[in-house]
Amino acid sequence: MSHKGYGKLILFGEHFVVYKVPALVAAVTDYTDCEVKLIPGGSGISGEDNRPAVPGYKVEKKEEHEEAVKLVLTHMGCDFLSQGVEVTYSGNLTAVSGIGASAAATVSLARAVATAQGKTLTEEQINQAGYEGEKGYHGTPSGIDNTAATYGGVLRFQRTEGDPSFVTKKLKTPVEVVYASTGITASTSKVVADVRSKKEADEAWFAGLIGKYEQLVAKGETALDAADWPELGQLLNENHTLCQELTVSCKELDTLVDAARAAGAIGAKMSGTGRGGLMLALTPGKESQDRVAEALLKAGAAQVWKTTFA
Ligand code: MEV
Repeated sequence: MSHKGYGKLILFGEHFVVYKVPALVAAVTDYTDCEVKLIPGGSGISGEDNRPAVPGYKVEKKEEHEEAVKLVLTHMGCDFLSQGVEVTYSGNLTAVSGIGASAAATVSLARAVATAQGKTLTEEQINQAGYEGEKGYHGTPSGIDNTAATYGGVLRFQRTEGDPSFVTKKLKTPVEVVYASTGITASTSKVVADVRSKKEADEAWFAGLIGKYEQLVAKGETALDAADWPELGQLLNENHTLCQELTVSCKELDTLVDAARAAGAIGAKMSGTGRGGLMLALTPGKESQDRVAEALLKAGAAQVWKTTFA
């Protein structure tokens, strides 16, 4: 039985979404899978992590990953002291900074624990358990990653006090996208904390940026709904500029973004935590997608993936 948690790409709103403004996110079809075996008479958490990953990712994230597993098990009442819990991860999602690999893992774990416990949970309960796990990776997750990991598809998401608020978007036509890794594993907790301290040091500066962002995401949603790819591409470019102003981009991301645009991408931006991690490029049509993917590899991307938002 498979227990899927999808990866995701943020189109609009990384970091801003933590401050309760809307964001647009698209799950990718690649997913993490998980199996859980409960071992009576045993004790502790064991298992294997067979997910594909970019070099260094699993080592960098080891402690946060272990903490996330414990948080999900505790939240779900799965005692790992009076029984053994064997957790085995697999799936075709390459774990890389920016793709929401942590949320994909916590959501797939939540599904697998429910199966092992013989429980049928609602998608909301799975999403909530995934969210608890995300707290192992950083203190104030917006919930965007676990929501995309649970439900898949393209979503407009907004962090709220209670349950996350989101709307599923059905695209008029599918569209090709390329995403590429800088090869740098970023720490979401550190980058989110740094953005917070910059905000606290200069509230007026942050208010200016988030104000511009809110206008941008509203236009982005309209362009997405209309399948107006040139307009969407331009707005993605503008979101990248806001990420630069927020200081979450870096020269490696900017190099890849520039290379994608030079190769014909109609929009390109960093995606996710930033300061390493991933960028994405909007490339309607197979030909553009192939050309941009090749250009990104030539420009030094550690790894490149092609996907389609539908
Ligand atoms: C990470 O994928 C997205 C961030 O906005 C953090 C979050 O929303 O929890 C950087």
